[in-house]
Amino acid sequence: MGKTFAVIGDPIDHSLSPHIHSAAFRELGLEHSYIGYRIPKDELAEGIEGLKKIQISGFNITIPHKIEMMKYVDKIDESCSLIGAVNTVANNNGVLKGYNTDMDGFLEPFKKKNLKIENCRILLLGAGGAARAIVAGIAKEKAKSITIANRTLEKAKELSEFATKIQLESNFIQINEVKNSAKNYDIIINATSIGLKNESSPITFEGIRENTIVYDIVYKPMNTDFLKKAKEHKAIIIYGYEMLLGQAIRAFEIWHDMKAPYNAMKKALLGGF
Ligand SMILES: NC(=O)c1ccc[n+]([C@@H]2O[C@H](COP(=O)([O-])OP(=O)(O)OC[C@H]3O[C@@H](n4cnc5c(N)ncnc54)[C@H](OP(=O)(O)O)[C@@H]3O)[C@@H](O)[C@H]2O)c1
Repeated sequence: MGKTFAVIGDPIDHSLSPHIHSAAFRELGLEHSYIGYRIPKDELAEGIEGLKKIQISGFNITIPHKIEMMKYVDKIDESCSLIGAVNTVANNNGVLKGYNTDMDGFLEPFKKKNLKIENCRILLLGAGGAARAIVAGIAKEKAKSITIANRTLEKAKELSEFATKIQLESNFIQINEVKNSAKNYDIIINATSIGLKNESSPITFEGIRENTIVYDIVYKPMNTDFLKKAKEHKAIIIYGYEMLLGQAIRAFEIWHDMKAPYNAMKKALLGGF
């Protein structure tokens, strides 16, 4: 029998997840469905009750519920407890288990392209929820060090303390202080929301080496000014959609316990742009 899956959040109509998962079902001949379900910020408890009533098999969680959702899961995967936020839930006969696939999603493009994080010096812009999942991933892959640059210095400090706690050498600065220091890093990541509204890159790439990896997790627009400027300096580019695809693939594998159809999901995602 076909199962039902969903993505919850507010706003939700822009979400590409229904396209990606529906394409996977079509590709594999599965009669499941995946819907976008808007749940406003203070209606999460009622929303979850509703999903349980319809015996939802699994759901993704996006802004603004990722942290709040921790309260409503019965079990949590290690990825979830480490990051302190849930973005994927599996429902096993009314028992909700929470996962966080943002970390694996972030790492997926490195694996796919055979790019190493080990021993690299990292510059991370941003200190929000996604940045925390990224720090966890970078620590797992044993980077040499990380510099966290954020608008609100206090948040950069907190994230830097988290990095230290999970054995990743770190320091923090105000984002305006990055100035011309990009050349000191092997991997540069934008995990702020700068770019979503077509804003200019918050940093310059003067003097970076040709094979510096520059990764923007903002996925709409696909070609942010941050990535355009990095391309001018011949950086290796990783697009935000690659992380989005990576986390969807991991969620698919948690729910269905089978290999996800990567190409069909990628095609559906790119068709959404
Ligand atoms: N590709 C993917 O799969 C994927 C996954 C998750 C998230 N994302 C994207 O990543 C971005 C961040 O998500 P999140 O969940 O981490 O959000 P969040 O927790 O709200 O964090 C937002 C971050 O952006 C910074 N920021 C926002 N506006 C800024 C501005 N005008 N100038 C400087 N810094 C600014 C914030 O700095 P302050 O601390 O100073 O406020 C904070 O560091 C979003 O655009 C989201 O769409 C992509």
